[in-house]
Amino acid sequence: MKLALIGATGMVGEVMLKVLQERNFPIDELLLVASEKSVGKEITFKGKTYKVIGLKEAVAARPNIALFSAGGNISLEWAPKFAEVGTTVIDNSSAWRMEPDKKLIVPEINANLLNKDDKIIANPNCSTIQLVMALAPLHKKYKMKRVVVSTYQSVSGTGLKAVQQMENEMAGIKGEMAYPYPIHKNALPHCDVFEDNGYTKEEMKLAREPQKILNDRTFSVTATAVRIPTAGGHSEAVNVQFENDFELSDIRKILHETPGIIVQDNPDTNTYPMPIYAHDKDDVFVGRIRRDETQPNTLNMWIVSDNLRKGAATNAVQIAEYLVNNKLV
Ligand SMILES: NC(=O)c1ccc[n+]([C@@H]2O[C@H](COP(=O)([O-])OP(=O)(O)OC[C@H]3O[C@@H](n4cnc5c(N)ncnc54)[C@H](OP(=O)(O)O)[C@@H]3O)[C@@H](O)[C@H]2O)c1
Repeated sequence: MKLALIGATGMVGEVMLKVLQERNFPIDELLLVASEKSVGKEITFKGKTYKVIGLKEAVAARPNIALFSAGGNISLEWAPKFAEVGTTVIDNSSAWRMEPDKKLIVPEINANLLNKDDKIIANPNCSTIQLVMALAPLHKKYKMKRVVVSTYQSVSGTGLKAVQQMENEMAGIKGEMAYPYPIHKNALPHCDVFEDNGYTKEEMKLAREPQKILNDRTFSVTATAVRIPTAGGHSEAVNVQFENDFELSDIRKILHETPGIIVQDNPDTNTYPMPIYAHDKDDVFVGRIRRDETQPNTLNMWIVSDNLRKGAATNAVQIAEYLVNNKLV
């Protein structure tokens, strides 16, 4: 197994390395790739030191799998070049997610769609992954009609520059800005760029990606995405209207039995999911499970997950594991 990691020096890249090591992903040869400015930089993985290389060199090495987390433009330009030499690309950017001939995969939900011909596989958006992880088993049982989601997203979702902005602001240092406004002591109703319809691209990812992953256009999702000064994970307040009625005890039971979901829900002990607990964990945490008393068949819940883990690195590595285990690479 020759594995290339594109964006190895970034926030997602760093967590990818951690996850690959933790899960003992089988690697014979590792290629760590970043921009020209990082070429030659040294990174240690499993006690061995690797020198960062450029994209051209990595393509020439014809890796079996390339995990991409270097932004949409790099993916658009370079994923096809890797695919051409036989590499299977697992892409973390939004470049390929909504392309009809590319699969958008959350392994617990739809990895069974993958086959040997899938040379560019898309990893969904971080806030989508944690949302669909909790919605998928409930949709199966009660059939969703409409989802309203409000996100409270970590600065780590924007990358290193944004984490640096928050740290600078906390320390009173003037530095480079990743956002148009301060993020420390603030909340920005603005994740990613605005689209023509007044929604942000992040909000539209939340509206479109779940339909593709669940292969169902009969439900709709509307979203408001907000950046807040946390670093450990994204949180989401989710209101779901189902076609069929439910018992809260059944909802808890279904979520409790879903692999990858941890229910943290006990008002008596102030137990609910929070980014400080989700940080550095692979699971999706669900709590504040309650009936929306203003509408029939409607549920409110609170979903938290580490956006760099299940929202990015872990999901991508799980896809790679599926490919290896099913001899698709
Ligand atoms: N952060 C999240 O929670 C999250 C979640 C899901 C998906 N993603 C996606 O993952 C990608 C990376 O996010 P991030 O948060 O890790 O960003 P980041 O911390 O800014 O890292 C960006 C990485 O891309 C590399 N890169 C930039 N320009 C390059 C070029 N021309 N050629 C090769 N490599 C280049 C950087 O290398 P240098 O160090 O050399 O500049 C760095 O390794 C984005 O597409 C993002 O949308 C992020």
